[in-house]
Amino acid sequence: MKKKNIDAILLAAGKGERAGGNYKQFVHVHQKPLIFYSLEKIVRISCLRNIIVVVPLQKINFAKKIIYERFKDPRIHIIPGGATRRISSYIALSCSEKKGNTDFIVFHEAARPLITTTMVYSVIKEAMRCGAAITGIPAIDTVAKVKDMFITSIPDRKKMFYVYLPQCFRFSWIIKAHRDKKNKILELENAENTELLVNMGKRIKIVNFYPNFKFTYSPDIKVISAFFKK
Ligand code: CTP
Ligand code: MG
Repeated sequence: MKKKNIDAILLAAGKGERAGGNYKQFVHVHQKPLIFYSLEKIVRISCLRNIIVVVPLQKINFAKKIIYERFKDPRIHIIPGGATRRISSYIALSCSEKKGNTDFIVFHEAARPLITTTMVYSVIKEAMRCGAAITGIPAIDTVAKVKDMFITSIPDRKKMFYVYLPQCFRFSWIIKAHRDKKNKILELENAENTELLVNMGKRIKIVNFYPNFKFTYSPDIKVISAFFKK
């Protein structure tokens, strides 16, 4: 079988507003920028052709300096992202497209430093089998559907999963999903890649991994620090 071209995208172009707006991807955890935790794992995946890191335009020189100083890996390309996570994803997908003949794309986000190489290999393996695979866990909390801060319904928790990253998709599926008319509506301007694919009728396999904590609010950094405590 012909070797597959697999690229990775590391989303790190947010502002971190819910964590105080201080570009949480570069916040130090045990003397190391948060983004390094993900990159250290991703560079170990030898089957990756390119590693595209999307950072805020305002931080591009800083990001290039610290990342290229620490990682001498020629597969790493640092590019500016966009106003939303969806736009950053699309910019990175277009970058991979220009490299030519990408078969599969791995997505990860810098806000989730607990990524492991096993997680990445697992989603790649499953995506090769069925086209799309993500990490996730069964919902721990009851999830409520709300309108104006009042609950309108409670979906059956047994059928709910939290959607995490890393994720891996067949490249042709995800780029088509971003460009499809169905997904070009206002309500979907902040949509997750999985939502765009589901709207295209694609089946996405969930691989169950725990923990996969995300740095969202300021106090989360304490939890993340504890995970990496020596
Ligand atoms: N992200 C991105 N481009 C954006 C917005 C987010 O690449 N325009 C990335 C973030 O850098 C982060 C990941 O997507 O690694 C998850 O998003 P989130 O936790 O929402 O991070 P931020 O958007 O930075 O935080 P906030 O929403 O609180 O501003
Ligand atoms: Mg955000």
